[in-house]
Amino acid sequence: MRLLITNIALLCNAEGPASLISRRSGAEMSVMPCMPDAWLLAENGIIHSFGSMAGLPEVHADVVIDGTGRLVLPAWVDSHTHLVFAAPRDGEFVDRIKGLSYEEIARRGGGILNSARRLNAMDESELYDQSLARLDAVMATGTGAIEIKSGYGLCLEGELKMLRVIRRLKENAAIPIKSSFLAAHAYPVEYKENKEGYLNLIIDKMLPQVAGEGLADYMDVFCEEGFFGVPETERLLEAGAKYGLRPKIHANQLYHSGGVQVGVRQNAVSVDHLECVGDAEVAALTGSSTMPTLLPGAAFFLGMHYQPARKIIDAGLPVCLATDYNPGSCPSGNVPLLLTLACTQLKMSPEEAINAVTINGAAALELEKELGTIKVGKRANLILTKPLASPSLAYLPYDYGNNNIERLIC
Ligand code: NIG
Ligand code: FE
Repeated sequence: MRLLITNIALLCNAEGPASLISRRSGAEMSVMPCMPDAWLLAENGIIHSFGSMAGLPEVHADVVIDGTGRLVLPAWVDSHTHLVFAAPRDGEFVDRIKGLSYEEIARRGGGILNSARRLNAMDESELYDQSLARLDAVMATGTGAIEIKSGYGLCLEGELKMLRVIRRLKENAAIPIKSSFLAAHAYPVEYKENKEGYLNLIIDKMLPQVAGEGLADYMDVFCEEGFFGVPETERLLEAGAKYGLRPKIHANQLYHSGGVQVGVRQNAVSVDHLECVGDAEVAALTGSSTMPTLLPGAAFFLGMHYQPARKIIDAGLPVCLATDYNPGSCPSGNVPLLLTLACTQLKMSPEEAINAVTINGAAALELEKELGTIKVGKRANLILTKPLASPSLAYLPYDYGNNNIERLIC
């Protein structure tokens, strides 16, 4: 199948054949090669060739799309989500408006434990149907690859149920999906006084089965005061590594809790959240291959301070952005809205924000060889926008709240 897109107003993040970038860091995050008035040819889902309309060769195509007034971009890679969940938590949203904090709600048995109760009561096929509907919705706003976590089971059966739902999504969805094992998301009620018992359950019972069935690509831990401390995180990540699971962890959301440092020590692919990042965390990340991933949607929805993106970029580091789509701290998987937050609140330029959720998102899922930029030989995993009032990169985060994505090509 050959698909030709002609008259593209702006072909964004397009790399030449000699380019070897695997992620963009520091000042390079402002680099985004764009070609005006362009064409692109995809063959069997792979980018075959592209160029300027002035040099359009004669090609046979099965489908031709007129890109007049539209952008074509590499699809978003959303590298951190909890898209598989059983029920919304709008009651807690109201509790927070009335003054309760996210931590206070968690201490009262709400939050993640609330989601675990609902998930364990739902059968696997209903969980799958709900999750598939959410996946379809985020694909419609341009998400072309996604990571999904377990972590609302908090028991062997519940965690396996979530991971099997993710496996079914992987098998049936048109886009690449990676899964992370997050049993260490919260201590379940029955282990509140026996934390050692829950750690042993994860390490001795859950991990062997999860790894044995090939259900996870990564190992995640909510490393935070009041959840899993640094020694526990280290122990869990070392146990995961024995099964070949690299870490991708929740770190430094609520406090300067040492999560970034333990992630870097354990060779994490990424450390995610990073509301609380200072000089020590930046120093730990410098020289490492661990991707700092910021989740401003959670800071927005919980009314917390935003991640210091400028400090991280200005130190020469890369920044990745992801939605954190989940029923508690960010019930939205909408990447265009995330881009607006990144620009207005984190003071990232549109180029930086789009690099953060394309090539750097791909790097945070170890998919940078096949996704994240428009390059001959990479997957034709593309966003086609609607005709835009101003066909510029900045228009996408500027025109917030409006859906400018016409379709995902994948
Ligand atoms: O990334 N912080 C930990 N986990 C999720 C939220 C989980 C929840 O509240 O359901 C997050 O924000
Ligand atoms: Fe999360």
